[in-house]
Amino acid sequence: MAKKLWDKNSTVSPEIERFTVGRDCELDLLLARYDILGSIAHSTMLESIGMLTSEEMNDLHRELREIYAVTERGEFIIEEGVEDVHSQVELMLTRKLGDTGKKIHSGRSRNDQVLLDLKLFTRNELREVCELTHTLFDRLIEQSNRHREVLMPGYTHLQVAMPSSFGLWFGAYAESLTDDMLFLQAAYRMCNRNPLGSAAGYGSSFPLNRTMTTELLGFDSMNYNVVYAQMGRGKCERNVAYALASLAGTLAKMAFDACMFNSQNFGFVKLPAECTTGSSIMPHKKNPDVFELLRAKCNRLQALPTDIILIMNNLPSGYFRDLQIIKELFLPAFSELKDCLRMAIYIIERIEVNRNILDDKRYDPMFSVETVNRLASNGVPFRDAYKQVGLQIEEGTFVADKEIHHTHEGSIGNLCNDRIAALMESIYGAMNFEKAQEAEEKLIRG
Ligand code: ARG
Repeated sequence: MAKKLWDKNSTVSPEIERFTVGRDCELDLLLARYDILGSIAHSTMLESIGMLTSEEMNDLHRELREIYAVTERGEFIIEEGVEDVHSQVELMLTRKLGDTGKKIHSGRSRNDQVLLDLKLFTRNELREVCELTHTLFDRLIEQSNRHREVLMPGYTHLQVAMPSSFGLWFGAYAESLTDDMLFLQAAYRMCNRNPLGSAAGYGSSFPLNRTMTTELLGFDSMNYNVVYAQMGRGKCERNVAYALASLAGTLAKMAFDACMFNSQNFGFVKLPAECTTGSSIMPHKKNPDVFELLRAKCNRLQALPTDIILIMNNLPSGYFRDLQIIKELFLPAFSELKDCLRMAIYIIERIEVNRNILDDKRYDPMFSVETVNRLASNGVPFRDAYKQVGLQIEEGTFVADKEIHHTHEGSIGNLCNDRIAALMESIYGAMNFEKAQEAEEKLIRG
């Protein structure tokens, strides 16, 4: 009981303790290494304004790097009776360094500490999500280029409509990822601002050098206004969740297409046997469970912004313990989405394409617009050509000419994949992940 940072020699009832600590002891483990990075930066700054001697700072840095190594080995734990990661790190420092450990919290609150941890965690997770998204993008562009000549039916209302191609289908999801990447970029930049120094949400009477911690931690800038810095809790997570949800939406739609196209009634794509699962009763089954699980997981991820909003709705400015619950939804979302991205990459590399879909006569009517356009190019008014071909189809005399010439930008014959790739590069490159990585590296290596 005496392990509380706010211990004032009175005890809290075990029921209250259990309920208020909640799942922090498990979830805060994900924040441990970021809590330590923050403490290295904070103690460096405290030394610079005379709140710590250089000897005290060096002792703290040595111990903090030691604890960091413990987290790297996966051995960091939050002990029984300790409230959260912030308390655990301070406890470890105090055990080793006595009064020096007790000095580190000057000018800081757990409110800005957890804000900082979440920003650093999110920044790193977003980088990994962006890297995987970029890899998936590359695979889709490769598949699009490889199958640019392979035609397939395009649908409206799930009715056979117009000729499409695997070049278009794969390329469409690649281009969709460029918009998701734009969302991720906005999320990353919003997240990449330093809240440290806002303390409980109203700053401190110590002359904190927030510019210094901003630079040490490799942030683009700080969240200047201390009240806004605290208001960013929940808002940052929600906005990042919008980006994750957008990306998850792309994956879910692609998975649905793939499930449908893999059905015998379509037969457009096939998964190699080792990528399918069987049935306990039907010996012939090779099911695309991979795509179904991708779809379900990614559909659920799209509820994340709403789930977060429901927690932060109607909270006025300032800290509330409600915000702690957001961690339960937000932190695990990254590993779930990264898992889905890795699986999407794996399966897109292996999916097999049917090159002879259009040999089946049932798709012939989709060439009707080609015939109409040919007549129209030869001077027949479009409406008359439309009627002429329409009547042929009704009478069963329409003969499909499967030569197609689509030349405009973004069409079957002119995919513009190079331009889509350039777009992706410009969005991805603007995030400058190296800056953050180098700063973190430097804090750890000293
Ligand atoms: N576990 C808390 C959270 O996630 C840490 C901050 C505690 N601050 C407080 N004022 N009780 O929000």
